Amino acid sequence: MRQHHRSPRLFGSLLLVAAAGFSSVAAVPGGDSTGQEAAEAATAATPTPLGQVVPAPASAVPGGSPFEINSKTRIRVDGSRDAQKTGSYLAGVLRPSTGYPLKVTDDGGSDGIRLRLNSKDASLGNEGYRLESKRGSLTITARKSAGLFYGVQTLRQQLPAAAEQKTVQKGPWQVAGGTIKDAPRYGYRSAMLDVSRHFFSVDKVKRYIDQMSLYKVNKLHMHLSDDQGWRIAIDSWPKLATYGGSTQVGGGKGGYYTKAQYKDIVQYAASRQLEVIPEIDMPGHTNAALASYAELNCNGVAPPLYTGTEVGFSSLCVKKDVTYDFVDDVIREIAAMTPGKYIHIGGDEAHSTSHEDYVAFMDKVQPLVAKYGKTAIGWHQLTGATPAKGAIAQYWGYDATSAAEREQVANAAKNGTKLVLSPADRSYLDMKYDKDTPLGLAWAGYVSTQRSYDWDPGTYLKGAPADSIEGVEAPLWSETLSTSAHIEYMAFPRLPGIAELGWSPASTHDWNTYKVRLAEQGPRWDAMGIGYYKAPDVPWPGK
Ligand code: ACM
Repeated sequence: MRQHHRSPRLFGSLLLVAAAGFSSVAAVPGGDSTGQEAAEAATAATPTPLGQVVPAPASAVPGGSPFEINSKTRIRVDGSRDAQKTGSYLAGVLRPSTGYPLKVTDDGGSDGIRLRLNSKDASLGNEGYRLESKRGSLTITARKSAGLFYGVQTLRQQLPAAAEQKTVQKGPWQVAGGTIKDAPRYGYRSAMLDVSRHFFSVDKVKRYIDQMSLYKVNKLHMHLSDDQGWRIAIDSWPKLATYGGSTQVGGGKGGYYTKAQYKDIVQYAASRQLEVIPEIDMPGHTNAALASYAELNCNGVAPPLYTGTEVGFSSLCVKKDVTYDFVDDVIREIAAMTPGKYIHIGGDEAHSTSHEDYVAFMDKVQPLVAKYGKTAIGWHQLTGATPAKGAIAQYWGYDATSAAEREQVANAAKNGTKLVLSPADRSYLDMKYDKDTPLGLAWAGYVSTQRSYDWDPGTYLKGAPADSIEGVEAPLWSETLSTSAHIEYMAFPRLPGIAELGWSPASTHDWNTYKVRLAEQGPRWDAMGIGYYKAPDVPWPGK
């Protein structure tokens, strides 16, 4: 008789289901097992309880026999190209570790891993999926390719961590029986990478994309320009990249993405269901542009390149017409490489721009974003100007942010401006965990794993209507970070928590159950070679 249905960890997932407001059907242990299965079960590792994944699914109803991948398992896709691609992606993950052929086929059949895009269940929306696991088959159905992809991410986490290894491992490869039905709380679940303070190569960006996609993050916000570097080729203003991108914090050689490289990132992100949101930060944080073109400066003199970490000293010249020719060209060229809906225009820390100039600048620049068919996002200082209809403000305040500033943002939200929340003392992945963290900054305080997770986007900003919240973002600023190892040390284990706040129903929110699910990611990150911080507030296995 299988014992695993009675494991204490399963109890956790049943609680999760109950908390999510779905009724759960108790498993009948051993009710359907054969003698041979009983013998197998005696030696088999207990499968991860259904639903014990990050982000927590909306509903998980465990029950019945597990599904097991074996040497004959096929990945059966329906005829669609999206299912085919997702099937190949899954095979690419599981072939090295299982050593099985895992043939991807559209020849029908009711056994094996089945990926289907034929769901008629409207409640799944564009990103939801249903995963049904039982003896002989595991079926993921969705309405759209994103849902199928997210179902596959859930499947990965239901398998043993060894499934993530790159060399053949010992099975068995079981997925607990039952049904998961899942769809996100928010449609905007973002991670930001600052490639300006330190430049990150295309391969490093792709590596981070792969990591964020494990947790169903669906936006990659790229901070492409700042005082220290301009990182994207603009044909009409070529020196932005060739000169403005030629250094970085500390004086290294910096770098920039050619248009072909940038499009490659955009395409790769799309293959992981992520929309790239390019940011050109204006009118402050513009020294790299000002250094590249003297005419953009009010005094007509180009400042030197900058490799320090101060903020607030640069501004585009708001009164010059050439400034808007420049912005128009940049937005036009970037919009042409952006299949997504948004362009982020920055707008933070414009301490060298007068309030009057700031308002005038935003009044001129937001229509340029609309002119090229995109929706503007700005840091929440945009609410001190006049946000365009449909614009999004990204709140990055923290405990020390004044009540007046918070109120300004909340009032904008009441008036129809949508918000993305990235509170600096919660979601900024570059904040140190504690005083001993060797990397990162601490201006918003130390941000432990628990602190990062333990807030509710729906109620966080007093006075902002719950339906004004589009979602959340976890920014990673790179003043102190220059390698993938640095990214991973700061993002893991905190990024999955922000991703969960964006995905999971508020009713699942509970640090004590979350930290157990999070701890189980550790062996996966070990298998994938993600160098995470072993945060002391997380009960890592074997600790
Ligand atoms: C910011 O952290 N200056 C948006």
